[in-house]
Amino acid sequence: MSPQSSPFSPTTVVGAQNYPAELVAAVVRATEAAASACLPLVGSGDKNAADELAVAAMRNALGLAPFDGTVVIGEGEKDEAPMLANGERLGTGAGPACDVAVDPLDGTRLAAENLPGAVAVIALAPRGSMFDPRDVFYMQKLIAGPAGIGVLDVRAAPAQNATRLAEALGKPLDELVIGVLDKPRHASLIAELSHLGVRVHRVAEGDVSIAIAAATPASGIDAVMGTGGTPEGIIAACAVRSLGGFMQGRMAPQSESQRAAAVSAGHDLTRVFTLDELVASDRVLFVSTPVT
Ligand code: FBP
Repeated sequence: MSPQSSPFSPTTVVGAQNYPAELVAAVVRATEAAASACLPLVGSGDKNAADELAVAAMRNALGLAPFDGTVVIGEGEKDEAPMLANGERLGTGAGPACDVAVDPLDGTRLAAENLPGAVAVIALAPRGSMFDPRDVFYMQKLIAGPAGIGVLDVRAAPAQNATRLAEALGKPLDELVIGVLDKPRHASLIAELSHLGVRVHRVAEGDVSIAIAAATPASGIDAVMGTGGTPEGIIAACAVRSLGGFMQGRMAPQSESQRAAAVSAGHDLTRVFTLDELVASDRVLFVSTPVT
Protein backbone atom coordinates (compact mmCIF):
# COMPACT_ATOMS: atom_id res chain seq x y z
CA MET A 1 0.00 0.00 0.00
CA SER A 2 1.30 3.51 -0.75
CA PRO A 3 0.89 6.51 1.51
CA GLN A 4 -2.27 8.43 0.62
CA SER A 5 -2.90 12.15 0.74
CA SER A 6 -5.56 12.94 3.31
CA PRO A 7 -8.42 15.25 2.43
CA PHE A 8 -6.31 17.75 4.41
CA SER A 9 -3.39 17.45 1.95
CA PRO A 10 -0.36 17.59 2.22
CA THR A 11 -0.72 15.38 5.29
CA THR A 12 0.29 11.74 4.65
CA VAL A 13 -1.94 9.03 6.10
CA VAL A 14 -0.98 5.35 6.05
CA GLY A 15 -3.31 2.62 7.38
CA ALA A 16 -6.50 4.74 7.48
CA GLN A 17 -8.55 1.59 6.82
CA ASN A 18 -7.47 0.17 10.19
CA TYR A 19 -9.34 2.68 12.37
CA PRO A 20 -12.72 4.44 12.43
CA ALA A 21 -12.84 7.44 10.09
CA GLU A 22 -13.58 9.88 12.92
CA LEU A 23 -10.47 8.73 14.81
CA VAL A 24 -8.30 9.03 11.69
CA ALA A 25 -9.66 12.55 11.11
CA ALA A 26 -8.91 13.48 14.75
CA VAL A 27 -5.33 12.22 14.45
CA VAL A 28 -4.90 14.20 11.23
CA ARG A 29 -6.22 17.28 13.05
CA ALA A 30 -3.62 16.65 15.78
CA THR A 31 -0.59 16.53 13.45
CA GLU A 32 -1.92 19.55 11.55
CA ALA A 33 -2.51 21.44 14.81
CA ALA A 34 1.07 20.69 15.92
CA ALA A 35 2.47 21.75 12.55
CA SER A 36 0.55 25.02 12.43
CA ALA A 37 1.19 25.84 16.11
CA CYS A 38 4.94 25.92 15.65
CA LEU A 39 4.91 27.76 12.30
CA PRO A 40 5.40 31.21 13.90
CA LEU A 41 8.71 29.95 15.34
CA VAL A 42 10.03 28.43 12.10
CA GLY A 43 13.33 30.17 11.45
CA SER A 44 13.41 31.68 14.96
CA GLY A 45 16.46 29.69 16.02
CA ASP A 46 14.63 28.45 19.15
CA LYS A 47 14.06 24.73 18.64
CA ASN A 48 12.73 24.00 22.12
CA ALA A 49 10.16 26.82 21.97
CA ALA A 50 8.92 25.54 18.59
CA ASP A 51 8.74 21.99 19.99
CA GLU A 52 6.83 23.22 23.06
CA LEU A 53 4.13 24.84 20.91
CA ALA A 54 3.83 21.68 18.80
CA VAL A 55 3.59 19.46 21.91
CA ALA A 56 0.87 21.59 23.51
CA ALA A 57 -1.21 21.72 20.33
CA MET A 58 -0.88 17.97 19.73
CA ARG A 59 -1.77 17.15 23.33
CA ASN A 60 -4.91 19.33 23.18
CA ALA A 61 -6.03 17.89 19.86
CA LEU A 62 -5.42 14.26 20.89
CA GLY A 63 -7.39 14.92 24.08
CA LEU A 64 -10.48 15.29 21.88
CA ALA A 65 -9.81 12.17 19.78
CA PRO A 66 -12.35 9.32 20.11
CA PHE A 67 -10.04 6.62 21.48
CA ASP A 68 -8.44 5.33 24.67
CA GLY A 69 -4.76 6.12 24.05
CA THR A 70 -1.64 5.58 26.13
CA VAL A 71 1.61 7.27 25.12
CA VAL A 72 4.32 4.63 24.66
CA ILE A 73 6.66 6.78 22.61
CA GLY A 74 6.75 10.35 23.86
CA GLU A 75 9.80 11.61 22.01
CA GLY A 76 11.89 14.21 23.89
CA GLU A 77 13.80 12.46 26.68
CA LYS A 78 17.09 12.29 24.77
CA ASP A 79 17.33 16.07 24.41
CA GLU A 80 15.35 16.88 27.55
CA ALA A 81 12.93 18.53 25.15
CA PRO A 82 9.26 19.18 25.92
CA MET A 83 7.30 15.97 25.50
CA LEU A 84 4.14 14.02 25.86
CA ALA A 85 5.11 11.74 28.74
CA ASN A 86 5.28 7.96 28.49
CA GLY A 87 2.19 6.50 30.13
CA GLU A 88 0.14 9.69 29.61
CA ARG A 89 -3.50 8.87 28.75
CA LEU A 90 -5.00 10.60 25.73
CA GLY A 91 -8.41 10.74 24.09
CA THR A 92 -12.02 10.72 25.19
CA GLY A 93 -11.80 7.10 26.36
CA ALA A 94 -14.52 6.07 23.89
CA GLY A 95 -13.10 4.03 21.03
CA PRO A 96 -10.22 1.62 20.43
CA ALA A 97 -7.56 1.08 23.12
CA CYS A 98 -4.29 2.13 21.50
CA ASP A 99 -0.58 2.57 22.05
CA VAL A 100 0.41 6.02 20.82
CA ALA A 101 3.76 7.16 19.43
CA VAL A 102 4.14 10.89 18.95
CA ASP A 103 6.75 13.24 17.63
CA PRO A 104 5.06 16.65 17.55
CA LEU A 105 8.13 18.08 15.81
CA ASP A 106 10.68 15.70 14.28
CA GLY A 107 13.57 17.82 13.09
CA THR A 108 13.38 20.58 15.71
CA ARG A 109 16.62 22.13 14.43
CA LEU A 110 15.33 22.02 10.84
CA ALA A 111 12.26 23.97 11.96
CA ALA A 112 14.29 26.42 14.06
CA GLU A 113 16.59 27.11 11.10
CA ASN A 114 13.83 26.96 8.46
CA LEU A 115 15.43 24.02 6.63
CA PRO A 116 13.26 21.46 4.84
CA GLY A 117 12.26 18.10 6.38
CA ALA A 118 10.63 18.90 9.76
CA VAL A 119 7.38 16.99 10.30
CA ALA A 120 4.71 16.45 12.97
CA VAL A 121 3.92 12.72 13.30
CA ILE A 122 1.64 10.35 15.22
CA ALA A 123 1.34 6.56 15.03
CA LEU A 124 -1.32 4.36 16.63
CA ALA A 125 -1.32 0.60 17.14
CA PRO A 126 -3.43 -1.69 19.34
CA ARG A 127 -2.65 -1.49 23.07
CA GLY A 128 0.40 -3.52 24.04
CA SER A 129 1.79 -3.86 20.51
CA MET A 130 4.51 -1.16 20.44
CA PHE A 131 7.93 -2.00 21.82
CA ASP A 132 8.79 0.39 24.65
CA PRO A 133 12.48 1.23 24.31
CA ARG A 134 12.64 3.28 27.53
CA ASP A 135 16.20 4.11 28.67
CA VAL A 136 17.78 3.61 25.24
CA PHE A 137 17.81 6.77 23.17
CA TYR A 138 19.54 5.52 20.01
CA MET A 139 18.81 2.67 17.62
CA GLN A 140 20.71 1.32 14.63
CA LYS A 141 18.15 1.05 11.82
CA LEU A 142 18.00 -0.78 8.51
CA ILE A 143 14.89 0.09 6.52
CA ALA A 144 13.80 -0.67 2.95
CA GLY A 145 10.75 -1.50 0.88
CA PRO A 146 9.38 -5.04 0.40
CA ALA A 147 12.46 -5.94 -1.69
CA GLY A 148 14.52 -5.94 1.51
CA ILE A 149 12.52 -8.75 3.13
CA GLY A 150 14.65 -11.91 3.42
CA VAL A 151 17.56 -10.06 1.84
CA LEU A 152 18.86 -7.51 4.36
CA ASP A 153 20.40 -8.09 7.79
CA VAL A 154 21.46 -5.33 10.17
CA ARG A 155 24.37 -7.54 11.34
CA ALA A 156 25.89 -7.63 7.84
CA ALA A 157 28.32 -5.00 6.57
CA PRO A 158 26.68 -1.98 4.87
CA ALA A 159 28.40 -2.84 1.56
CA GLN A 160 26.97 -6.36 1.68
CA ASN A 161 23.47 -5.09 2.38
CA ALA A 162 23.73 -2.50 -0.38
CA THR A 163 24.92 -5.12 -2.87
CA ARG A 164 22.12 -7.54 -1.93
CA LEU A 165 19.46 -4.83 -2.14
CA ALA A 166 20.68 -3.60 -5.53
CA GLU A 167 20.47 -7.20 -6.81
CA ALA A 168 16.98 -7.65 -5.37
CA LEU A 169 15.84 -4.40 -6.98
CA GLY A 170 17.54 -5.29 -10.27
CA LYS A 171 19.51 -2.04 -10.45
CA PRO A 172 23.22 -1.24 -10.59
CA LEU A 173 24.87 -0.01 -7.40
CA ASP A 174 25.31 3.47 -8.81
CA GLU A 175 21.52 3.78 -9.06
CA LEU A 176 20.93 2.64 -5.49
CA VAL A 177 20.07 5.54 -3.13
CA ILE A 178 20.60 5.13 0.61
CA GLY A 179 19.42 7.70 3.13
CA VAL A 180 21.78 8.44 6.03
CA LEU A 181 21.67 11.04 8.81
CA ASP A 182 24.62 13.34 8.15
CA LYS A 183 26.31 12.92 11.54
CA PRO A 184 29.99 12.43 12.46
CA ARG A 185 29.17 8.91 13.71
CA HIS A 186 28.26 7.98 10.13
CA ALA A 187 31.52 9.09 8.50
CA SER A 188 32.74 5.52 7.89
CA LEU A 189 29.28 4.30 6.80
CA ILE A 190 29.07 7.11 4.24
CA ALA A 191 32.64 6.44 3.08
CA GLU A 192 31.96 2.69 2.69
CA LEU A 193 28.79 3.25 0.68
CA SER A 194 30.34 5.98 -1.47
CA HIS A 195 33.38 3.79 -2.16
CA LEU A 196 31.00 1.13 -3.47
CA GLY A 197 29.47 3.67 -5.85
CA VAL A 198 26.14 3.88 -4.02
CA ARG A 199 24.41 7.28 -3.98
CA VAL A 200 24.14 8.50 -0.39
CA HIS A 201 21.22 10.81 0.32
CA ARG A 202 22.35 12.76 3.41
CA VAL A 203 19.89 14.57 5.66
CA ALA A 204 20.98 16.81 8.52
CA GLU A 205 18.11 15.71 10.80
CA GLY A 206 14.80 13.91 10.64
CA ASP A 207 15.07 10.20 9.96
CA VAL A 208 11.32 9.50 10.13
CA SER A 209 10.75 11.13 6.73
CA ILE A 210 13.56 9.21 5.02
CA ALA A 211 12.34 5.97 6.65
CA ILE A 212 8.93 6.37 5.05
CA ALA A 213 10.51 7.14 1.70
CA ALA A 214 12.72 4.04 2.00
CA ALA A 215 9.73 1.79 2.71
CA THR A 216 7.83 3.20 -0.27
CA PRO A 217 8.91 1.57 -3.56
CA ALA A 218 10.10 4.00 -6.26
CA SER A 219 10.18 6.96 -3.86
CA GLY A 220 13.76 7.80 -4.83
CA ILE A 221 15.26 6.41 -1.59
CA ASP A 222 15.86 2.65 -1.54
CA ALA A 223 17.00 2.16 2.06
CA VAL A 224 17.96 3.89 5.28
CA MET A 225 21.08 2.88 7.20
CA GLY A 226 22.69 4.15 10.38
CA THR A 227 21.79 5.20 13.89
CA GLY A 228 19.07 7.63 14.94
CA GLY A 229 16.62 8.15 17.78
CA THR A 230 14.89 5.06 19.20
CA PRO A 231 11.50 6.82 19.51
CA GLU A 232 11.76 7.84 15.86
CA GLY A 233 12.60 4.18 15.13
CA ILE A 234 9.34 2.93 16.65
CA ILE A 235 7.35 5.66 14.88
CA ALA A 236 9.03 4.70 11.60
CA ALA A 237 8.33 1.02 12.28
CA CYS A 238 4.59 1.78 12.41
CA ALA A 239 4.75 3.40 8.99
CA VAL A 240 6.99 0.69 7.54
CA ARG A 241 4.63 -2.01 8.81
CA SER A 242 1.67 -0.32 7.17
CA LEU A 243 3.61 0.07 3.93
CA GLY A 244 4.66 -3.62 3.85
CA GLY A 245 8.36 -2.73 3.99
CA PHE A 246 11.41 -4.17 5.74
CA MET A 247 12.95 -2.97 8.98
CA GLN A 248 15.35 -4.24 11.62
CA GLY A 249 16.69 -2.34 14.63
CA ARG A 250 19.33 -2.80 17.25
CA MET A 251 19.81 -0.72 20.41
CA ALA A 252 22.84 1.54 19.95
CA PRO A 253 23.77 3.59 23.03
CA GLN A 254 26.21 6.36 22.10
CA SER A 255 28.16 6.74 25.34
CA GLU A 256 29.37 4.63 28.24
CA SER A 257 26.72 6.08 30.54
CA GLN A 258 23.94 5.35 28.01
CA ARG A 259 25.29 1.82 27.64
CA ALA A 260 25.33 1.26 31.40
CA ALA A 261 21.77 2.65 31.75
CA ALA A 262 20.52 0.39 28.94
CA VAL A 263 22.15 -2.73 30.39
CA SER A 264 20.89 -2.02 33.91
CA ALA A 265 17.37 -1.52 32.46
CA GLY A 266 17.66 -5.11 31.17
CA HIS A 267 18.24 -4.46 27.45
CA ASP A 268 20.20 -6.99 25.41
CA LEU A 269 22.33 -4.77 23.18
CA THR A 270 23.12 -7.57 20.74
CA ARG A 271 19.48 -8.37 20.05
CA VAL A 272 18.17 -7.71 16.56
CA PHE A 273 14.57 -6.49 16.60
CA THR A 274 12.46 -7.47 13.63
CA LEU A 275 9.66 -5.25 12.40
CA ASP A 276 7.11 -7.55 14.10
CA GLU A 277 8.92 -7.08 17.39
CA LEU A 278 9.07 -3.32 17.06
CA VAL A 279 5.32 -3.19 16.38
CA ALA A 280 3.47 -6.44 16.92
CA SER A 281 0.38 -5.65 14.84
CA ASP A 282 -0.67 -4.85 11.30
CA ARG A 283 -3.45 -2.60 12.59
CA VAL A 284 -1.33 0.52 12.49
CA LEU A 285 -2.13 4.13 11.64
CA PHE A 286 0.62 6.59 10.72
CA VAL A 287 0.01 10.28 10.06
CA SER A 288 2.63 12.89 9.13
CA THR A 289 2.24 16.61 8.37
CA PRO A 290 5.15 18.62 6.99
CA VAL A 291 6.25 21.67 8.98
CA THR A 292 9.05 22.85 6.68
P1 FBP B 1 14.54 16.11 17.15
O1 FBP B 1 13.47 16.62 16.31
O2 FBP B 1 14.05 15.57 18.45
O3 FBP B 1 15.62 17.14 17.31
O4 FBP B 1 15.17 14.85 16.39
C1 FBP B 1 15.77 15.00 15.13
C2 FBP B 1 16.55 13.76 14.78
O5 FBP B 1 17.31 14.00 13.61
C3 FBP B 1 15.72 12.50 14.60
O6 FBP B 1 14.99 12.45 13.40
C4 FBP B 1 16.79 11.45 14.70
O7 FBP B 1 16.25 10.17 14.93
C5 FBP B 1 17.60 11.98 15.86
O8 FBP B 1 17.43 13.41 15.85
C6 FBP B 1 19.05 11.67 15.82
O9 FBP B 1 19.63 12.13 17.00
P2 FBP B 1 20.94 13.03 17.06
O10 FBP B 1 20.59 14.37 16.44
O11 FBP B 1 21.24 13.17 18.52
O12 FBP B 1 21.99 12.32 16.30
